[in-house]
Amino acid sequence: MIRTGSEIPCRAARLKLVAIASFVLLGFAALVQSQTPANVSAEARLGARLFHDDRFSTPAGDLMNSCSSCHLFDEDPQGIRARADFFSRSWVPFRMEDPRRDALRNAPTIFDAALMPRLHFDGEFASLEELVKATLTGRPMGWLEGEQARALDLIRQVVLADAATGNQESYRTQFKNVYSVSVESLSRDEVVNLVAKAISAYMRPMKSERTAPYDRFIEANKLEASPATGEDAKEFGRRMLARIASLEAKQELKLTAGFDAEALKGLKTFVTSSGSFSVGNCVACHAPPLFSDFSFHNVGISQSEYDHVHGEGSFSELEIPSAASAVRPSAQFRETPAAKKRGCADLGYWNFANLKTSPLRIANESDEQFLQRMIGTFKTPTLRNLDFSPPYMHTGGFPTIESALGELMRLSEMARAGEVREADKELAKLSISETDIAPLAAFLRTLNQNLNKAAHRY
Ligand code: HEC
Ligand code: HEC
Repeated sequence: MIRTGSEIPCRAARLKLVAIASFVLLGFAALVQSQTPANVSAEARLGARLFHDDRFSTPAGDLMNSCSSCHLFDEDPQGIRARADFFSRSWVPFRMEDPRRDALRNAPTIFDAALMPRLHFDGEFASLEELVKATLTGRPMGWLEGEQARALDLIRQVVLADAATGNQESYRTQFKNVYSVSVESLSRDEVVNLVAKAISAYMRPMKSERTAPYDRFIEANKLEASPATGEDAKEFGRRMLARIASLEAKQELKLTAGFDAEALKGLKTFVTSSGSFSVGNCVACHAPPLFSDFSFHNVGISQSEYDHVHGEGSFSELEIPSAASAVRPSAQFRETPAAKKRGCADLGYWNFANLKTSPLRIANESDEQFLQRMIGTFKTPTLRNLDFSPPYMHTGGFPTIESALGELMRLSEMARAGEVREADKELAKLSISETDIAPLAAFLRTLNQNLNKAAHRY
């Protein structure tokens, strides 16, 4: 199993990279102002500046983060990113007194995040605004437990003190123009709310486009792009397969630019949910057009990481409190496993699943059964633009699409043998072999759009 990720081995090297990235960023600054697309709202422009501003980071850390430090676009000298970074797990500013000392999860793309009912792999947040406030005052910016008031004060300070350094407008002017307020007269919380609103307005239009080779293939063959309202994704997959088979029988199926026979083979495996071979069953969770059902599933990645550290079978023996006694969210169960921290694991959505209101509750299930079933569940990530967001999975443990698929194949075999604790029932139905991996990867690469710089940078 490959586990290296694209980690830069030492901190000095990372800092150098950040320095190069900032240099590239500065180079772009001049271009940015002249290239601003005309249809971008003043609010989104303000949000863009706040998103790139590293002054909200704690002054006590060894590096200054902004949202764009981990959600890169063209700032990364290693290539365009779909607003993700290049680490297995995002680095937080280093603090001697940080009791966790660990990095975050893998930074996912934030394209289409505005469409997701819950945010973060574990569904911690229900809105972009909520996420922004917690992020600006949390570990991503180097703030520790108990420092939230200081972090909030700093946000107001930065907004008030911002002079027109190198920018056409100061925050003062921008807040006046966008929200008709003078920042001096606002309370700290009012400033923070508007900052969250502006950054969210900047992120909302960050959507993947339906212009990838896959979308062209769907169009050219007049296939349906997404399940009908209320239609089960697997049923949609069956209909797509039948339609492709009928076009092939009439020799009318058109392969299109960037969508070749290999990708077609991969697509078929992807949408096949029954049979005896090449059953990807991927569509069950990765439903088009975004290739996510926005729901939470356990495909075994947390177990795999935990067992890698503590030995095969150890995750199955991990003691996890019952619904009645569990204090959630739990620091112990939102942690990266490490040799020195036996018992610390990442149980994902288990931490935030609401026993009363979760849409994942099924009829006649007890609280206990439900919470057990939520162990190790994570939000299904979108599969669009994967080439711009490696490494993969919430652990960032898989540097290539092929290695991620190899792991899913291995875990599905384990699930069939009953060896994945609380595996999603759809995992065992996934039945692929080595020969299916190349076509599946070829298909997944047809979901990469041509990222247009001008539309994404302002
Ligand atoms: C230190 C790196 C880091 C910084 C700084 C950072 N993020 Fe993130 N971001 C992450 C990671 C890691 C995740 C995944 C978190 C998780 O699931 O636990 C994430 C998740 C997200 C998501 C959710 C995506 C999804 O699919 O649910 C959004 C939206 C987002 N970040 C926006 C922001 C904004 C806005 C800022 C600035 C206020 C920011 N991030 C700052 C690393 C970072
Ligand atoms: C039971 C639901 C389910 C099924 C079936 C499933 N996946 Fe996933 N997939 C997920 C979840 C959940 C994750 C995130 C897991 C994590 O990080 O812990 C994921 C992650 C991935 C990733 C990594 C994406 C990223 O950005 O990190 C890829 C690639 C992927 N799946 C492809 C596939 C393919 C191809 C298939 C079919 C062979 C498939 N999946 C079947 C739910 C599913």
